[in-house]
Amino acid sequence: MMLHIPEVLSADQVRHIRTELDRADWVDGRATVGDQGAKVKRNRQLPEHSPVGLKLGEIILDALRKNPLFFAAALPKKTMPPLFNSYEGGEHYGLHVDGSVRNLPDAPGVSIRTDVSTTLFLSAPEEYEGGELVVVDTYGTHEVKLPAGDLILYPSTSLHRVEPVTAGARVCSFFWSQSMIRDDWKRSMLFELDQNISSLRARIGDTEEVLGLTGHYHNLLRQWAEI
Ligand code: NI
Repeated sequence: MMLHIPEVLSADQVRHIRTELDRADWVDGRATVGDQGAKVKRNRQLPEHSPVGLKLGEIILDALRKNPLFFAAALPKKTMPPLFNSYEGGEHYGLHVDGSVRNLPDAPGVSIRTDVSTTLFLSAPEEYEGGELVVVDTYGTHEVKLPAGDLILYPSTSLHRVEPVTAGARVCSFFWSQSMIRDDWKRSMLFELDQNISSLRARIGDTEEVLGLTGHYHNLLRQWAEI
């Protein structure tokens, strides 16, 4: 399942993050990928242990914790500290799949499984040309280019690429979550159920049937969740 979540960050938060990023030291993005990724990746990133990156990442993690849609869709058990990348002057990232297991930079020896990939846009679409995130899944190919402050989440099992940025600069944050629900199909079904129950509750209140469906949702989560 792919999901666009609008306005995860406010305009003020985006401005603050962009100002800090403008002053930061960027490195070659190939530092954080394996062999296959390194062959097709051409961009710049903040180093994983960058103090600025970790501080800005906290703003994003805090925004995610307050976002019920992100929680419902990702059902995150653990989200990695967000990373930041920038593409300009034709930089791009060819078709690849994200590594399945990643070490947590702040906890040596602890790894997470990447179930959900997220890209949070920090540049407005008018600031650059190209740079679409292209995600290939079982339902076809999707091109994504969102307003600053919006995010897209998609299954980490998907092949994806970033098209060359031919003018301006595309600045984004990206990160992975290990979900309580490993399977994308089960996670999607829970999300649909959750969203339908929410709109039903808003329309008719906590009727016996709505309570029954809410119980059903939680019992499925209880059956499937890896805590
Ligand atoms: Ni990727």
